[in-house]
Amino acid sequence: MDGNGRWARQRRLPRVIGHQRGVEAVRRLVRAVRHMGLEALTLYAFSTENWRRPEDEIAALMGLLKRFILSDLDEFAANGVRLRIIGDYKAFAPDVVELIEQALARTAGNSGTTLAVALNYGAQDEIARAATRAAAKGPITAETIAAELDTAELPPLDLLIRTSGEVRLSNFLLWQAAYAELWFTEVLWPDFAPAHLEEALAAFAARERRYGGR
Ligand code: IPE
Ligand code: MG
Repeated sequence: MDGNGRWARQRRLPRVIGHQRGVEAVRRLVRAVRHMGLEALTLYAFSTENWRRPEDEIAALMGLLKRFILSDLDEFAANGVRLRIIGDYKAFAPDVVELIEQALARTAGNSGTTLAVALNYGAQDEIARAATRAAAKGPITAETIAAELDTAELPPLDLLIRTSGEVRLSNFLLWQAAYAELWFTEVLWPDFAPAHLEEALAAFAARERRYGGR
């Protein structure tokens, strides 16, 4: 979900306003995907590298996360959304961890769209943690690592969207992206609307996937 800062700068607004508008984009999208038949949507909210940001920005992001859970959890729970977290979210402050765990517990029995949120997530960290667990259980293979990834309970990654004109993966779902289709858009995250997702899904549907076969 990239481009919040640039969205704000273009309007001469504080960065945090960009992040706030980014949360509104999330809300719009989650409402829309419930009707799009998507099995799962994963949002990259906070990376293992985002700790390098100034303390006040990190605090603002944590505040937004808490407020988002408090304001939107009822709606998600009522609409069958199942929340998942990927990443080492237990490194967050205890009050944030507690809120996250309440939200996970409240939506665990739901069977609609899975909303996975990547928090303190980095693919390299995820793979290292998965490999450690796999090694403790037996031989390391692609399958035994995959079974230990944070995404083990999510469906395979089909389509990966990067907003804001950057053309890189930035440590997101590196393992899972092996055969994912990629979609890059100039749209800044706060402007990312359900119609943009539909555009990416239409392009995805037209692609031929061969997974190395022919
Ligand atoms: C949001 O966008 C990413 C988060 C960590 C929430 P940015 O804050 O990276 O926005 P830009 O890249 O400065 O535009
Ligand atoms: Mg950025």
